[in-house]
Amino acid sequence: MRTEAAWLGRRLLLWWVAASGFMTMFATCPFCGKPGCVTGAGLYAAVIAPIVTFFSWKARRSHGKNEGSAERTVNDSGKASKRYIKSCRGDFWQEVFQRELDYLVEHLGGCSDVLSVGCGPAIIEGGLAVRGFKVTGLDVSQEALSCAPNQIRTVAARAEDMPFPASSFDAVIYVVSLQFVEDYRQALEKSASVLRPGGRIVVMLLNPESVFFKEKLRDSDSYVRKIRYANIRDIERTMTESFEVRAEYFMGVKQGRLFESRDPDYSVLYVLSGTKLPIGAGKGSR
Ligand SMILES: C[S@@+](CC[C@H](N)C(=O)[O-])C[C@H]1O[C@@H](n2cnc3c(N)ncnc32)[C@H](O)[C@@H]1O
Repeated sequence: MRTEAAWLGRRLLLWWVAASGFMTMFATCPFCGKPGCVTGAGLYAAVIAPIVTFFSWKARRSHGKNEGSAERTVNDSGKASKRYIKSCRGDFWQEVFQRELDYLVEHLGGCSDVLSVGCGPAIIEGGLAVRGFKVTGLDVSQEALSCAPNQIRTVAARAEDMPFPASSFDAVIYVVSLQFVEDYRQALEKSASVLRPGGRIVVMLLNPESVFFKEKLRDSDSYVRKIRYANIRDIERTMTESFEVRAEYFMGVKQGRLFESRDPDYSVLYVLSGTKLPIGAGKGSR
């Protein structure tokens, strides 16, 4: 919020200076009738600057909401990845990763080869590798993958075109990434095909009903604003075409503190875990 106000302040000043300069050169003062009057130009600029600032602010907001192509994600991710990795060092995020890791370990029992799609800097995936899983991390951002720990294999590609032969993995996971890919349906189809028969899938989705999510949306710098799909029910329905799905809310956050929760208002995540169905056996979730 403070960043947004600072941006508005800077833009207002910039447009005021630009408009004053322009009016001094070209306009006639409404009071003294002379061209080149600095006071008159300043008054004109005081009207023009807020109008132009308002329209540039609206353009900036809609740019932030409509995340463009995957290519832009690649280009943007240099700065974004560094900022993200820096923020991950804090106690709060370390605890978030630990809880996510514990959840995954519990739900990936019996799996060995794990593909993490949209792994980013692969912090949790490093934890899985330490616990004996053979992890492949895929992300569209080469920059983010360059920060991944050495124990995991990294592949720079789009989830929608993941370059693996059929039946390559025991499990596919999406840790807060499926809602950010361009075409989640295609990504899920691909995920089903690279899974072995009876393979597991765990999809951790941001819960858009949560207080945490709503607060993050108000922060103009938050990664949450890059989300493309907020409708978690649609994602759940799509998943049931290829997987036997179980859904639950997970991990509460209230005033910066983490706690066990299944409450839709406070759970940061909505987790869909499933098992690959035999081809043509799609059915509803339970
Ligand atoms: C919110 S971040 C989550 C990163 C990581 N899983 C974590 O929890 O720290 C979303 C990630 O999805 C990746 N991503 C976005 N679109 C993608 C696509 N089409 N294919 C693969 N990865 C994609 C982004 O580059 C980013 O690293």
